[in-house]
Amino acid sequence: MKPYHVPVMVTECIEFLHLKNGGIYVDATLGGGGHSKAMLEANPTISLFGLDQDIEAIEQATIVLEPWADQVCIIQNNFTALRTELAMRKIKGIDGILFDLGVSSHQIDQVSRGFSFEGDAELDMRMDQESELNAFKIVNEMEMYDLAKIIKDFGEELYAKRIAKAIVEARATAEIKSTKQLAAIVESCVKFGKESVKSKARVFQAIRIHVNSELDVLQSALADSINILNPGGRIVVMSYHSLEDRIVKQAFKTASTGCDCPPQAPMCFCNKVPILKSLTRRPILASDSEIENNSRSRSAKLRAAEKIPVEEK
Ligand SMILES: C[S@@+](CC[C@H](N)C(=O)[O-])C[C@H]1O[C@@H](n2cnc3c(N)ncnc32)[C@H](O)[C@@H]1O
Repeated sequence: MKPYHVPVMVTECIEFLHLKNGGIYVDATLGGGGHSKAMLEANPTISLFGLDQDIEAIEQATIVLEPWADQVCIIQNNFTALRTELAMRKIKGIDGILFDLGVSSHQIDQVSRGFSFEGDAELDMRMDQESELNAFKIVNEMEMYDLAKIIKDFGEELYAKRIAKAIVEARATAEIKSTKQLAAIVESCVKFGKESVKSKARVFQAIRIHVNSELDVLQSALADSINILNPGGRIVVMSYHSLEDRIVKQAFKTASTGCDCPPQAPMCFCNKVPILKSLTRRPILASDSEIENNSRSRSAKLRAAEKIPVEEK
């Protein structure tokens, strides 16, 4: 049987998290619980809060983490609700947090979830099966201009306008209901075989990012996470495409820099001080042997940072 998800750069994540005895940690993207399990095995004295918005991930992680049930709290919610969820449990600070972004292999492999352009399923792509917006609504209801913008901005697709036009023309005749129909429309806009596979991947990625508001929620969740880290606490983020990595890099940079008053200002008015120290000048990539064994790790970029203890500010 195919594993639910093979976790990426586990050793590197554990090293950067620097798990301290009795510490409180968060796995913001539980998935199949692979990273959480590794954290608990590496240091069985920690407490762990794990979040995922997908009920199937919650069910799988609950099974995987059952041996540590007394010290693990599993929460089905979007990681934007992290602060609220922790506050409700009277947690004021955490010693580390891990984000392993994007979708799990299970979500892609389950054809019925509609994430993949291989296979045929209803256009869905929701990580949270309860949310209102799905891929069907985007493909069938969105204005051509907005559709093209999403495909360009979130998919970085060269033929975005052409594809959006073809989608709007196709749906004028009949609703576009399936992933196969959408894939065929993209294919009709990009003639060369290899190119069309890349375009399909980019269009599906773009729609998925919009359905799940992936970039917006990331920005706010990173800021919240950095704020609730205890001094010396660590944040580790693995991203899988350049749009996410850019947001992570910027969030770390913003928190790592002090005064941002204009250079012509006679004195500092913002009183901003650095609260974070980056631990990775450049993103860490998976080793060749990991990539050979797990192709998903090929695009992973890991960035880590540490909250600056108060006296160092
Ligand atoms: C790459 S998988 C994580 C795999 C996990 N590290 C493991 O070892 O199995 C990403 C998971 O994060 C979840 N996810 C993505 N964005 C989320 C968000 N904004 N809030 C909550 N969960 C999210 C997805 O549903 C998916 O299960």
